[in-house]
Amino acid sequence: MTTALPATPDYDAWPIEAHLETLTFSPRLVTVRWSDGRESRYHSIWLRENAADDSTINPATRERILDLSALPGWPEVAGAEIDAAGALCVDFAPEQLRLRFHPGWLRAHDYDNAEDPEAPLATVKLWHGGPEAAPDSLDASGLLDTTPDSETEESILAPALESVLGKGMVRLRGLPTEPGSLEAIARRIGPVRPTNFGLLFDVKAKPDPDSNAYTSIALPPHTDLPTREYHPGLQMLHCLENSVSGGQAVMLDGFAVAEALRQRDPEAFDTLTRVHWCFANTARTTDYVWYSPMIRLDDRGELLEVRIADFLRGPLQANFDEVESAYAALMTLQAMLREPEFAIRFTYAPGDLVIFDNRRLLHARDAFEGSSGHRWLQGCYMERDEVRSRYRMVQRRRRERRVAAKGQQES
Ligand SMILES: [Fe+2]
Repeated sequence: MTTALPATPDYDAWPIEAHLETLTFSPRLVTVRWSDGRESRYHSIWLRENAADDSTINPATRERILDLSALPGWPEVAGAEIDAAGALCVDFAPEQLRLRFHPGWLRAHDYDNAEDPEAPLATVKLWHGGPEAAPDSLDASGLLDTTPDSETEESILAPALESVLGKGMVRLRGLPTEPGSLEAIARRIGPVRPTNFGLLFDVKAKPDPDSNAYTSIALPPHTDLPTREYHPGLQMLHCLENSVSGGQAVMLDGFAVAEALRQRDPEAFDTLTRVHWCFANTARTTDYVWYSPMIRLDDRGELLEVRIADFLRGPLQANFDEVESAYAALMTLQAMLREPEFAIRFTYAPGDLVIFDNRRLLHARDAFEGSSGHRWLQGCYMERDEVRSRYRMVQRRRRERRVAAKGQQES
């Protein structure tokens, strides 16, 4: 008689929050009742595909090798029971194969009761700014001294990632100010996305600039690289020096502005989700162009991204009859972006690193006096996927610790 729990079809740990108590089955369905009274139904084909045995999953990669269409027939349940280890055992016909399912994994993937399996990893909170507002700030002074993937590193990164996922930004403080150290810091989250501006880019006034960012003039609220089909989901700006007068940083939650626009002027909102604008960065040696609405919704109507940068907009090429309404909507949006109630303003201190969602937040800066000192930020890009992957790993480690504490190990 086996008392060890079966493997799961992934690398994760799944604490057992409730036990399997009873079950019933028919050829295409297994219905289980848990110790807390919940009832879950699992289709036979779903169970067959999600088994963790070596005919379904390559144990070396934990990726699926099963081809459902190669089975001798539609998988049906010939028998089912809860075994001594508390696992669900199913006899599949016509394969004549007995497979076991980990109860913690089954419960965590209970699609019969799931409210929203695609819900964001952290609650998304839209925010307004104003004179008293400040970014979520965390002391990260020890970050580069921690061991990668250690609990100490996680204690700094976890709240930072939660702020980025929920509010679209975080300010880490107390980091080193050596030029180039941003790459090592960024790698604690994930790989950097290189662009034609380099792996890291220097934001400072320089001769012969190839972007307005590399001058001392004010920059209006914008997202970076709207000229790309897939513009970066994340931007990091790391302050190495800041002794100039002016140059205050400004951040706005583009989703909060878009929602306010949806309330105040639904027609303008609709126009900006529909009309494709031209975004162009035609420098001396590169020529990036992409057409996109300024506000994009997902197929549920939720905000997916904003893409706004007046200085990177090419000539509008819309339907003739839509040109004036497109500009009217744009100007309504531009006026809202200047409303102080949306903006967080702050001054970078050396050692600050601001991480923000570049497809949600807009950033801007005041003009500064180039002769009054030095202002040097280094920046880089990354994808939202890296934040989500890193945060999922944080959650996995937490589950592993819960499993270890409960003594619920797999075989
Ligand atoms: Fe920028």
